Amino acid sequence: MCGIVGYVGNRKSSEILLNGLSRLEYRGYDSAGIATMERNKIACIKTKGKVKSLIDLEKENSLNGAIGIAHTRWATHGKPSTENSHPHLDNSKKFAVVHNGIIENYKELKSFLQKNGYTFYSQTDTEIIPNLIAYYYKKMTPRFLEAVQLACNDLIGSFAIAVLSTYEPNKIIAVRKDSPLVIGKSNFETYICSDVLGILAYTKDFYILNDYEYAEISKDEIKFFNKTLQPIEKEIKSIEWDFSTAEKNGYDDFMLKEIYEQPISIRETIGSKLPIDAPSNLDEITFTRKYLSSLNKIFIIGCGTAMHAGLVAKAMFENLCNIPVEVDIASEFRYRNPIINEKTLAIFISQSGETADTIAALKLAKSKGAKTLAICNVIESTITREADYTIYTHAGPEIAVASTKAYTSQLILLAIIAIHFAEVLKSTDTETLNTFKNDILSISNKVSEILENIDILKEFAQDNCNIEHAFFIGRRMDYLVSLEGSLKLKEITYIHSEGYAAGELKHGPIALIENGINVITIITDQELMDKTLSNVHEVISRGARIFAITNLNFPHNDFDYFLNIPKTNELLSPILSVIPLQLISYYIAKEKGLDVDKPRNLAKSVTVE
Ligand code: F6R
Repeated sequence: MCGIVGYVGNRKSSEILLNGLSRLEYRGYDSAGIATMERNKIACIKTKGKVKSLIDLEKENSLNGAIGIAHTRWATHGKPSTENSHPHLDNSKKFAVVHNGIIENYKELKSFLQKNGYTFYSQTDTEIIPNLIAYYYKKMTPRFLEAVQLACNDLIGSFAIAVLSTYEPNKIIAVRKDSPLVIGKSNFETYICSDVLGILAYTKDFYILNDYEYAEISKDEIKFFNKTLQPIEKEIKSIEWDFSTAEKNGYDDFMLKEIYEQPISIRETIGSKLPIDAPSNLDEITFTRKYLSSLNKIFIIGCGTAMHAGLVAKAMFENLCNIPVEVDIASEFRYRNPIINEKTLAIFISQSGETADTIAALKLAKSKGAKTLAICNVIESTITREADYTIYTHAGPEIAVASTKAYTSQLILLAIIAIHFAEVLKSTDTETLNTFKNDILSISNKVSEILENIDILKEFAQDNCNIEHAFFIGRRMDYLVSLEGSLKLKEITYIHSEGYAAGELKHGPIALIENGINVITIITDQELMDKTLSNVHEVISRGARIFAITNLNFPHNDFDYFLNIPKTNELLSPILSVIPLQLISYYIAKEKGLDVDKPRNLAKSVTVE
């Protein structure tokens, strides 16, 4: 949730650390801080607010040390404030720590330390860590690394930490458990980061830390150790993401850039997976016909937008493969004792690959004997390392908090997997599959077409930026995309909205429809068109203002706004109909002057429960 950056090298570390924090700011943004080693003393500055405030503060304090750690915080324990910001120092100011995650047993550890004479100045769980390290350093071992290890052995919960100490002032110790941390390497310089994006400007070569692996980093070398501090070798990996794809490239916001990247990201997701006149090409999985026909259920699990992609995928798998599919929210799944066995395939969808609930759900499914398949965007993220199989969406970095291109890439990939299963199972005839493949291959151009025709969306946003409520309605696939449209509107415009199955309105929510209430309806289902239209007329007669998004022909004179989008296979229709919904939310948020990339109370990846 928060962001960590560390640097060991020859340069003024504060410049690199602040640059890294700015790139990570989408992860956590209520306070920030930095600690550098200045002539064997730790200098630490921190402040409430965005990284910009820390940059201004650094100008007044000029930190020159060539080794340092930094953090952006998204409050979990204790309100956003300077005292609660990281880095946290121990009482003797010999150790400084930045931490992502949550220490579940911090109250017990705090009272233990208080009994031993330690004082606490913040309400955070993190402040116990430097003090616990100091305690062990004093009582048990005069080695920095060992003191960190002893402290970590006491921690229950999740943590990625980087630690500085005046006792060994040329080093940083880094370690993780259930929270991501990578070590980037370039000539004579080492970087630490909770997300490769923070340091992609400096290097593309990374070591990925696993749980309880320690990195002891000095200017000349990086040593890795396991949980018991036995030395281990780690392989360096190159990340191919181009740094410029993580920049705004002339767009006002990352969200708009990512919406407009969808024609490309969809093509990247398809890659070479759908050769013409040949079976689909999915080297990442090796499911035989025997295994797939033995399945009595596929579970699809995720959170938020990723779960919405799962709902659409259910229709794809059930239609093409004839396997029953259950979709669940990860935070519910993990606590409801789901019925799973070796005849279950569990698919986990996550852009970040670091969502705590999805990771826990995956571990649960695995422990009950299911095979697990991850659909992920971030290379080498935790979910990809936990799952039996991973297929990457290859949508490129998604920086804006609101997920856009990750959703469409997830849908494309899930459609390809459904085709692949259907080919292996021979559950759908070749002609139908070929038509479906061609629909996938042509969808990117149709997305471009929608993106070129946005005047009505801007007009709708201008007219309706002050509304307080909105409904998104549709049937079948149009209902599923309504849920996603409604989530987008809520999260970036702060307008209350509901995604509803059109046929369900009269079972309660229609009571809320009155003069001027906006109803956005998606109608791409020929078979159910008349039924949805009759629901739309029910709300018109109660005063609703209608925006209809459709690829069908019907009289629409009494609608206030109307947008025609290209036709495609019904199972793929959310990939097209979500685009105007993303843009409506984007332009309303802009009309309201909101920070679209960093909506309040939200963070890009939710690495705590
Ligand atoms: C909404 C959004 C969230 C995420 C959810 C899962 O726009 O971004 O609902 O979809 O937090 O995140 P990942 O996909 O990273 O597991």
